[in-house]
Amino acid sequence: MNFRKLCVLGLGYIGLPTASTFAVNGIQVLGVDINPDIVETLQNGNIHIHEPGLRDLVSHAIQSGNFSASTQLEEADAFLIAVPTPFKEHKLGEHNGQKYKLADMRAVTSATEAIVPFLRKGNLVVLESTSPPRTTVDLVKPILERSGLKAGVDFHLCYSPERVLPGQILRELVENARVVGGVTPESARAGHDLYKNFVKGKIIETDATTAEMVKIMENTTRDVNIALANEFSRLAERFGVDVWEAISLANLHPRIHILNPGPGVGGHCISVDPWFFVEGAPELTPLIYNARNVNDAQPHFVVEKVKQAFSVQTAGLREASHPDDRQNATGNTLIGKRIAALGLAYKADVDDLRESPAAEVVRLLQKGGAQVIVWEPLKPNGNLEGIHMASNFDTAIRKADAILLLVRHTEFAKISPQALLSKTKARIAIDAVNAWNKNEWEKAGFLLHRLGANKS
Ligand SMILES: NC(=O)c1ccc[n+]([C@@H]2O[C@H](COP(=O)([O-])OP(=O)(O)OC[C@H]3O[C@@H](n4cnc5c(N)ncnc54)[C@H](O)[C@@H]3O)[C@@H](O)[C@H]2O)c1
Repeated sequence: MNFRKLCVLGLGYIGLPTASTFAVNGIQVLGVDINPDIVETLQNGNIHIHEPGLRDLVSHAIQSGNFSASTQLEEADAFLIAVPTPFKEHKLGEHNGQKYKLADMRAVTSATEAIVPFLRKGNLVVLESTSPPRTTVDLVKPILERSGLKAGVDFHLCYSPERVLPGQILRELVENARVVGGVTPESARAGHDLYKNFVKGKIIETDATTAEMVKIMENTTRDVNIALANEFSRLAERFGVDVWEAISLANLHPRIHILNPGPGVGGHCISVDPWFFVEGAPELTPLIYNARNVNDAQPHFVVEKVKQAFSVQTAGLREASHPDDRQNATGNTLIGKRIAALGLAYKADVDDLRESPAAEVVRLLQKGGAQVIVWEPLKPNGNLEGIHMASNFDTAIRKADAILLLVRHTEFAKISPQALLSKTKARIAIDAVNAWNKNEWEKAGFLLHRLGANKS
């Protein structure tokens, strides 16, 4: 099948790179977003998200004459939906007394409804938004069929998950293998024909529900394995072990690959998608459910580490030399303390603050009585309710009692402790992501506490 014109609904982290990549590969693309500010930004040749290479790609797409942005759809040969699928903010599901989060499918529903008046015989519709299993056949298909056309007969309908890594989206979009699930084999073939315009990785055809499940299985696997690493970090502290050392030794085993612990799991994908399985079958998902809760609880362990750092300082110790020292920390050592938190993004080298565990750590510290000032170099104007952002790094650290590293941004990993001495009065540092070398920091005169390490 040949495609001359494509409408991409949703111009965010996924939709904008995808739309511009199609455009520079010769397809006429209309990018549609309900947010008029985003459309205006793009019409002025600017972009609203941080992703390496995206600014140039969007410029090329606009210069090619193949890309335009609008709040209004038009007729096209194909429609691609890349709108958000978060969880509901104020409603939980419940099974046997256990509460779980529910998918908020309003954006997918309204984007699909918006296509109906423009749908014509022979069109292709692709859903890319990560969605609970059966969304394509049970939610999207009936809405599109309100047009009077039948999916798989009059028009093609596919689900194709996006598996790109933020920070490397432009390369992975082209190089990654792509799964295209159709409501019929012919629909899957049509999806294949669309993506072959730029995808260099394998394009595998399957059915729509398998393709949906593949995506959620991938993210659930990551989530469960990070939960395991986070539990290992807690156990290591209990047993007086450095979890980072233990993991690197365990990973020498040829069939073991333990992931990194950290302050928790965030972002729009891994912390959300496993709930789609729990919601679909709560009675079948105790492991997935518990892993989600382990990761959601991890910010509390970072806060404990910070308290421990202050109490160890009070006791005049360097790093807690015996695991019991942690339990001995009494009272709330956070009250009145000033903490400079480095990083607010949900992971390293991205500017995305959604579902960030770093933000949760900051809020918990504030609740505990600390004054926290945050420096996020990739989103200096980031605006999260109740969180005080510094205007630059130096301001964040100047009057701090402790420096807390929450995100392993490359520029934070490169910080020289020696160079900090004259810039801050803090002599306590807490590293939740294993970016800083204990010997180097202690030689410079800091007490460095690392998440998952209680080893002297
Ligand atoms: N960001 C990632 O790394 C990533 C990776 C894989 C999959 N996904 C999935 O892709 C989907 C999109 O994620 P994202 O990160 O691009 O989201 P995003 O929030 O960055 O962008 C979504 C855009 O859709 C727009 N929108 C909302 N409703 C709309 C509608 N009815 N019509 C047109 N536009 C609408 C929003 O204004 C926003 O600009 C989600 O399901 C997400 O889970 C994201």
